[in-house]
Amino acid sequence: MNKTVESLFAERLDEIPFSGIRKVFAKIRKMEAEGRDVIHWEVGRTDFDTPQHIKEAAIAALNRGEVHYSPNLGILPLRNAIAERTEIDTGVAVNGETQVIVMSGANEGILASILAFVNPGDEVLVTDPNWHHYKAITRVAGGIPIEIPTSAEDSFAIHPEEVEKRITSKTKMLCITSPGNPTGCVQSKENLEALAEIAIKHNLIVLSDEIYARIFYGEGTIAPSIYSVPGMAERTVIINGFSKIYSMDGWRLGWTVASEAMTQCILKIRQYTTVCVNTFIQYGATAALTGDQTCVENMVEEFARRRQIVLNGLREIPDVTVSDSEGAFYVFPDISAYGLTSKEMADYLIDDYGIATVAGSVFGTSGEGHIRIAYSCSTDECARGVVILKKALAALREKKD
Ligand SMILES: Cc1ncc(COP(=O)(O)O)c(C=O)c1O
Repeated sequence: MNKTVESLFAERLDEIPFSGIRKVFAKIRKMEAEGRDVIHWEVGRTDFDTPQHIKEAAIAALNRGEVHYSPNLGILPLRNAIAERTEIDTGVAVNGETQVIVMSGANEGILASILAFVNPGDEVLVTDPNWHHYKAITRVAGGIPIEIPTSAEDSFAIHPEEVEKRITSKTKMLCITSPGNPTGCVQSKENLEALAEIAIKHNLIVLSDEIYARIFYGEGTIAPSIYSVPGMAERTVIINGFSKIYSMDGWRLGWTVASEAMTQCILKIRQYTTVCVNTFIQYGATAALTGDQTCVENMVEEFARRRQIVLNGLREIPDVTVSDSEGAFYVFPDISAYGLTSKEMADYLIDDYGIATVAGSVFGTSGEGHIRIAYSCSTDECARGVVILKKALAALREKKD
């Protein structure tokens, strides 16, 4: 008997990588422990505190003894508040009793939804570049992620014909993230309508990750949602959450909205994962959605200022091009003219100049040639970052000449 404990580890672990973003975090922690100044453009986490009225509602709930299991779906006042919010955002009526599940972050919503609908061998369409969770969870479910390339040339629009030509008898789901991570780009209403037509024609489920929908700099206050397209409410799972828009990432709170039938499927999985979200924090989240939304407006205004600082700065740097990302707090400049791979560029910026970004290749093949800048850090840090980045790229140009 020559068996090791390692031989017992599940094979599915070989299907998923450790997150490329987490690797950057580890490096930065080490640099800061050594006393180096770092520009934090690596993490999609806001620098704001959670607004006080939200904290107070959670504390009050804790103090009055809301310390027991909640229903699997979440507390009803929060589900109703989510339903109401979804109706404001999408124009589609949602029933809080039957169509909403409160999740431990949007991430749990993605996990439970993919496990609920994807069989081994099923194909899941994901845009490339994209936030890597959909691909990883699809693999955990035994499914096969199929990438749809997108490019900076047209602000990472998803081309319906590129989607359609990848559809087979095994295709089950299409994942859309708009505004996107890592690009910050927003899919237009027309594009979403064309994608909806394909989803209906080929009987696909759409996982629509709308966690950045309210961080939108285009016309209106919210990015368009595929859920609003007639015929889509019965086949779409909306993924959303509190992490970004209310600066509550450490609370771990998100939600799914779907038809009653689909919600029952997702609920079955959730009953065996986290069972329910911490009860008292759900009261804080209810206050977030039902209270004054000025805090959200203020945060989005501040992100808009930072976005302009970063975009203006990038556009002054020779040989860097950048799409007009209309949402989230990311820009995804093309740095390929400098002759380094995106990983080499990200390493150079952090090692030599203390600017932390994430290599575009972390988000898929089409991300090569880009770096992701998350301008969710302070305005001052964004302004300093731009100045240092200009210096770093000028030094590279000098070396090249
Ligand atoms: C597109 C997207 N979806 C979901 C999440 C996860 O959100 P949560 O903190 O609610 O799990 C993130 C976090 O970065 C994200 O970028």
